Amino acid sequence: MRQFFLRMFLCSILLAVVTGIVIMAQGKGNPEAAKVKNPVAATAESIAAGKQIYTRYCAVCHGTNGQGGSGSDISPPAPDLTDEEWNHGSTDGEIFDVIKNGVPPDLNMGPWRDRIKDPDIWNVVNFLRSIAKKK
Ligand code: HEC
Repeated sequence: MRQFFLRMFLCSILLAVVTGIVIMAQGKGNPEAAKVKNPVAATAESIAAGKQIYTRYCAVCHGTNGQGGSGSDISPPAPDLTDEEWNHGSTDGEIFDVIKNGVPPDLNMGPWRDRIKDPDIWNVVNFLRSIAKKK
């Protein structure tokens, strides 16, 4: 049994490393995720729902207004989500992917997977769009 867990553990590390290499080889952004269209219209309701989720799960690191955080001993500063700089892609699909799957290989921006339901992740994307700094 112990052997089994050890093997599972090693496999997951290998998988994480391979994913990391693939992501790094792709450079900034994620062309596959970029193709995904936002299925949720950016209505006032969607933005309000997104704000609630954001406040609950994201504000601790990214700041109450999405302006970025200062970080701590255990985690680096979380980036400003209201500026035009997107290290992992600027499309709705890529932002959705970052929230759902996190930023590998290190897990400073952890994956939310199903802890936040997909429609709610889209609501958060719509909320982030609503607080983007206007040019
Ligand atoms: C534990 C702190 C923490 C929490 C909680 C957190 N994030 Fe992050 N987030 C980070 C860090 C650190 C990065 C930078 C990761 C990197 O680039 O390696 C990041 C990156 C991002 C990015 C990519 C920005 C870019 O430039 O492409 C988005 C989008 C994002 N977070 C959204 C969210 C949302 C939405 C939530 C809530 C559901 C959330 N984050 C929760 C720490 C956090």
